[in-house]
Amino acid sequence: MAASYLFLGLLLLHVIPLLHVTAQSPKNLTSGSAITAGDPTTHLLSPSGEFAFGFQMIGSAFLLAVWFERIPDKTVVWSANGNKLVPRGSKAQLTKDGRFVVDTPKSEEILSFSQPGAAFVYASLQDTGNLVLGNSDHVELWSTFDQPTDTLLPTQVLAMSATLYARYSETNYSRGRFALSMQADGTLKLMTTPFPIDYLYQDYWTANPDGGGSQLVFNQTGQVYVAASNGTVLAIVFSSNTSTNEFYQRVVVDHDGIFRLYVYPKTTNLGGRWPTNWTTPGSASVPPNICLSLVLWAGSGPCGFNSYCIMGEDQRPKCECPSGYVWLDPDDESKGCRPDFMPHSCDKNKAEGGDMFKLVEMANTDWPRLDYEYFRDQTEDWCRRACLEDCMCAVAVYADSVCMKKKMPLTNGRKDYNVREKSLVKVRILNSTADPPGYQQKTKVFSTMTIVSFALLSGSVSFNLLLLVVMLIIWRKFRYGGKDTKANSQLTEEINGMRLFSYSELWKATNQFKEELGRGAFGMVYKGFLPSSLGREGHNVAVKVLYKLNESAELEFKREISAISQTNHKNLVRLLGYCNEDRHRILVYEYMSNSCLANFLFGDSRPSWYMRIEIAQGVARGLAYLHDECSTQMIHCDIKPQNILLDDALKAKISDFGLAKLLVADQTQTLTELRGTKGYVAPEWFRNLPISAKVDVYSFGVLLLELICCRKNYKAGKEEEAEMILADWVCDCFHENTLNMLVEDDQEAAGDQRRVERFVRTALWCIQEDPSQRPTMKKVILMLEGAVPVPVPPDPCSFISSI
Ligand SMILES: *[C@@H]1O[C@H](CO)[C@@H](O)[C@H](O)[C@H]1NC(C)=O
Ligand SMILES: *[C@@H]1O[C@H](CO)[C@@H](O)[C@H](O)[C@H]1NC(C)=O
Ligand SMILES: *[C@@H]1O[C@H](CO)[C@@H](O)[C@H](O)[C@H]1NC(C)=O
Ligand SMILES: *[C@@H]1O[C@H](CO)[C@@H](O)[C@H](O)[C@H]1NC(C)=O
Ligand SMILES: *[C@@H]1O[C@H](CO)[C@@H](O)[C@H](O)[C@H]1NC(C)=O
Ligand SMILES: *[C@@H]1O[C@H](CO)[C@@H](O)[C@H](O)[C@H]1NC(C)=O
Ligand SMILES: *[C@@H]1O[C@H](CO)[C@@H](O)[C@H](O)[C@H]1NC(C)=O
Repeated sequence: MAASYLFLGLLLLHVIPLLHVTAQSPKNLTSGSAITAGDPTTHLLSPSGEFAFGFQMIGSAFLLAVWFERIPDKTVVWSANGNKLVPRGSKAQLTKDGRFVVDTPKSEEILSFSQPGAAFVYASLQDTGNLVLGNSDHVELWSTFDQPTDTLLPTQVLAMSATLYARYSETNYSRGRFALSMQADGTLKLMTTPFPIDYLYQDYWTANPDGGGSQLVFNQTGQVYVAASNGTVLAIVFSSNTSTNEFYQRVVVDHDGIFRLYVYPKTTNLGGRWPTNWTTPGSASVPPNICLSLVLWAGSGPCGFNSYCIMGEDQRPKCECPSGYVWLDPDDESKGCRPDFMPHSCDKNKAEGGDMFKLVEMANTDWPRLDYEYFRDQTEDWCRRACLEDCMCAVAVYADSVCMKKKMPLTNGRKDYNVREKSLVKVRILNSTADPPGYQQKTKVFSTMTIVSFALLSGSVSFNLLLLVVMLIIWRKFRYGGKDTKANSQLTEEINGMRLFSYSELWKATNQFKEELGRGAFGMVYKGFLPSSLGREGHNVAVKVLYKLNESAELEFKREISAISQTNHKNLVRLLGYCNEDRHRILVYEYMSNSCLANFLFGDSRPSWYMRIEIAQGVARGLAYLHDECSTQMIHCDIKPQNILLDDALKAKISDFGLAKLLVADQTQTLTELRGTKGYVAPEWFRNLPISAKVDVYSFGVLLLELICCRKNYKAGKEEEAEMILADWVCDCFHENTLNMLVEDDQEAAGDQRRVERFVRTALWCIQEDPSQRPTMKKVILMLEGAVPVPVPPDPCSFISSI
């Protein structure tokens, strides 16, 4: 007996909560009862049970809202306190004096709705989703339909001068940056708002430009239209064509600025997500592409400052940072992006040149409006240089011979196939300040010393001596970081630019000479890795093992290394050190991540015309330096794409320079032993003529032709025999005035005809048979830059064909 009572008791314990839930069915809120945050049993339901009114939990706080009760994600259609969520235990209730208030457990009043001369005595949630507050005569005095937030439901209208405000983000119900407004002039407009101040800024979509509207109607059959005051339909915004009996529907100004109609079948559970694609009947949105339609004269545009907008497959705009930039706040993309490098300094004392920066090319991308400079009839090259050298310039935008400079912050960014502009984003090549490492520290030591020296002048002799000793110790510590003497000597060698390696060290660094990077006229090259030392991080190196040298060359080795070590030019590969142990002659170079120009130029992905221009100019500068600016002139003797390496930023660097002498050191030997590489060799090698720097000019000419046309100087199996030898073909095209054939499938180059011609002329001057006819590399630089006119070259062809 006792057991069955117990059983009944347990049963009741289970049933009571159920009863409680059903008891919660439609009821009105009256004075004396309250809706409590964190207690779902106090929610109001509409008679159909489709809508609910109460506190919804957002993170750890609560939002007073109306929502779709039967959709799993409980989509909010109206909310009261998006900008000020309340804690658990807060209450919404009707006061004795007829106000509707929300207060926290500490009795802090957060919200209050009231109407002068009237008292609310009940709150009731209707089947339409409308929450109404009424008086004792059952007159509706206030409703959520009249005070919309970001959403309209069927049967709801947006009255003249009323506005829907988008929320800040998917989960943040504060007011955001967009609004839909039924304007006093009778137009319906999507507008931006200058966050965080509430006024309307600028429109980016209008339903009825002619005006005449008095309200936006969302009627029972799911049509959304602007109506005149006499009821005439002026403009249909959405026509869902789905019945409100079978589908839940809502229109909302989303946080991304798009005004959307959503429909959700009542009988199928789609897991809480309202479909936004066009396969669902009725889903629709305006404007068609917000990335393109929103162009402001102030404010950031559809995305935050410095970012750009791109329309996703899901019809939602995505915001992204340009290359080299990162999110200001990764949790809030609307805050925009910032450069992830030290921006170009305009400080005169720092004198930063454009060569510290590169331009990252972004096709179909623009930051329209707000250019600070605008130039017509300019080449892209001019535009690039203009931005690189201008410390104010963050991005250059180029299209149709127009060059626009943009400053920070960048606004209205968008990327789309319909955008014709190309953006060139300026990014620092090495992410460091212009100061060389240690510079600041040294200055500091120096100034300390000055102060101490000054003190010395006025102290007692013995104290001064003591001070001097202490000072010297401190100074040594500063300078050498307290390392032992062995480290010091190595450091000294590094300061001189050269480090002496032992063979075993390089054996280890290259993992027993395992990974071959290439082989050339002088030796084999291997990839190596030097572990970190002396505060320098571990890094890759290229290790060149020279072929066995003859005796006289052995003697030259050190002298030549010393000459190479004194070179310092951004277009030359830097020699880091060498090994001169027993019979081993090994050179250690900086490692170039992008391998050689040959792989790049003749590989699958052709470098862009502008990249090729930069490479040509870089090689020319490197050669001019070797010829004219070193203490002893260096002739390279083997210029070819395999010897031009490319660094991270795809800057050209000449390798293998300074080695030619080792092979021709023995003056009794004929120079023919070193003959460079077929196709690039100047004719004087074959004719017993004196070898001068002009042999490099010749090879450069051939290289330049290859850069223009992106093909090798000799190509067997060409249908047109005349096209097999590049130089011949170029000559023919030049004389027949058909240079466009050379760059036929290269739009960028084809659009830069004048430069193509200037480059071709320069190349033809370089490959003249008579060395004295060829220009010097210094002159070549001027020719390439267009700083001097390039006359029509004589015909070098007859000779080339005869080789
Ligand atoms: C709630 O208020 C409405 C409007 O006055 C009324 O029609 C309805 O009957 C009330 N419902 C309940 C359960 O009292
Ligand atoms: C919503 O965004 C606003 C604006 O950034 C911010 O001030 C507020 O704290 C955010 N609210 C929540 C709940 O994150
Ligand atoms: C809703 O609006 C459309 C378009 O004006 C109209 O054809 C339809 O009859 C309206 N439905 C109702 C129930 O008023
Ligand atoms: C209704 O108003 C519109 C615009 O104000 C006007 O063009 C139209 O003629 C009016 N229609 C009727 C039936 O009055
Ligand atoms: C609306 O729906 C009906 C019936 O489903 C269909 O015949 C008609 O073509 C639809 N109209 C539009 C504009 O989609
Ligand atoms: C459209 O949305 C529905 C529901 O989210 C999904 O099942 C369907 O695959 C989507 N269709 C396309 C083309 O994305
Ligand atoms: C570049 O330098 C800035 C400033 O020193 C630093 O904040 C940033 O993280 C660096 N970025 C990279 C990619 O190293």
